[in-house]
Amino acid sequence: MTAVVKPEIVDRIGSTPVVELESFSTNDVKFYAKLEWFNPFGSVKDRAAYWMIKDAEKKGILKKGRSIIIEPTSGNTGIAIAGIASALGYRVEIVVPEKISDETKNILRNLGATLHETSDDLCPRVGAGTDQSIALAKAISKPRPDIYYMPNQYENDANFLAHYESTGPEIWKQTEGRITHFFTGCGTGGTITGTGTFLKEMNKSIKVIAIQAQRNHMLQGLRNFEESSMPELFSRRMGVVDSWMTATNGDSFSAVRLLAKKENLLVGPSSGSVMASMIETAKGIDRGVMVGIFADDGRKFRSLYVKENIFSENEYDAVLDNARHLPKLAYAL
Ligand SMILES: Cc1ncc(COP(=O)(O)O)c(C=O)c1O
Repeated sequence: MTAVVKPEIVDRIGSTPVVELESFSTNDVKFYAKLEWFNPFGSVKDRAAYWMIKDAEKKGILKKGRSIIIEPTSGNTGIAIAGIASALGYRVEIVVPEKISDETKNILRNLGATLHETSDDLCPRVGAGTDQSIALAKAISKPRPDIYYMPNQYENDANFLAHYESTGPEIWKQTEGRITHFFTGCGTGGTITGTGTFLKEMNKSIKVIAIQAQRNHMLQGLRNFEESSMPELFSRRMGVVDSWMTATNGDSFSAVRLLAKKENLLVGPSSGSVMASMIETAKGIDRGVMVGIFADDGRKFRSLYVKENIFSENEYDAVLDNARHLPKLAYAL
């Protein structure tokens, strides 16, 4: 059954909470997580999707009841676009790597999207001959520009602006300007360039730390920049990054377990990568206020976590039962 999504839901995008991870904070080094799964469609990508759709509406590109939005994505952008488009009256086709979790595919279908699957890596690769999802989305949309619109999060500056205009200002306000280190995983680079640029305009000494996935990874939403070249959107503002960290599957999944045990949080894999990087960074600083983007929660990853022995089925269910900060979902899993 397709979920019914009311137009007002888009007003709930952004203004996500920042929570202190008290069991990790010390007197001098503070750990904070920005819980992006409080966005109505469950991830940080609601912001980029909404900004790109609003931008296309402003430019007169989208026509209600006629336009089809098509996008290559490893999941969260697709969920966000499908949800927002169905709220606003557009049809959606999503091109995904077949390896994304079954839960993600079910959510997309439940939100009314048509799926095209490719044998790509988890994150569509950018670069000649390697970008099946992107190439397929372009091949479908190019011959019918009158119907299809491809926002293209890898090049669209509205993706950057979403974070420059919302995520960055929110973090600045929520930490009352005390933030010293900003951490996020990178896919398109929208989150890091938008948030990082805004924060540095407020205080240029804030460190902006980019997290990439290891090669051959299982960290949905992230990218390894040796396997796959830098998206155009990221290249434009690469200079905002102060340092790079590479998250392994193992360290990221250990951090997922640790967050469940010590903070009763059920997080997605990329939040584990961010947490592992914050723990590592904390070892080398005397004082700081660290804020990490927790891009999505763990409810889409039951099958992955059980398959990879991160949690047994019973452990997962217990973590889910006890989890703090899990809002009601706008869609069925
Ligand atoms: C779970 C998750 N974490 C982090 C990111 C990184 O976001 P960005 O595309 O803004 O670099 C994404 C993007 O898809 C994601 O899905």
